[in-house]
Amino acid sequence: MKSLVVYSSQTGNTRKLAEAVLEALPGEKALFPVDEAPDPSDYGFIAVGFWLMAGKPDPKASEYLCKIGKKPLFLFATHGAGAGSDHAIHGMALAKSLAAEADIRGTYSCQGEVNPKILEKASKKPEPPVWLADASDADGHPNNADFEAVKYQLAELLAS
Ligand SMILES: Cc1cc2nc3c(=O)[nH]c(=O)nc-3n(C[C@H](O)[C@H](O)[C@H](O)COP(=O)(O)O)c2cc1C
Repeated sequence: MKSLVVYSSQTGNTRKLAEAVLEALPGEKALFPVDEAPDPSDYGFIAVGFWLMAGKPDPKASEYLCKIGKKPLFLFATHGAGAGSDHAIHGMALAKSLAAEADIRGTYSCQGEVNPKILEKASKKPEPPVWLADASDADGHPNNADFEAVKYQLAELLAS
């Protein structure tokens, strides 16, 4: 069974998490940025990583998620919002709904450092986005603890 890891990443956070996901997968495996991602139908296990943009999976990952079909799927994400926050949970639920036919085997998400220019822009909005309050805690993420956590989660689900 070949495994495929596809990620969308603008500033590198989700790419780093994707590399940890790849490391945790056994056997034949491949990693692609979403712009170069192959047709998922040739793979037996697929992991797709996205970043949250305006509360949703980013547009490129969203488009790819719609192509997954009935495959075993692991979803992972980075975001400025706190890990386990309602905002992050909602974003993951939206990703699941895009891959509506997939057999979702697990999910993982953690904070990802936010570009300072984006933070400044967001803070000047008349109604700053809800995730902004957590964004300073995102500095330095994803970090080694995040990489170990996603690897542990994958190892558990692959063993079950
Ligand atoms: C335009 C833009 C919109 C964003 N919107 C959200 C958001 O709605 N919720 C959130 O938690 N984080 C948001 N973020 C923060 C990113 O999701 C976070 O920094 C993520 O780790 C970036 O991943 P990347 O480095 O792989 O591109 C936004 C970032 C940008 C640049």
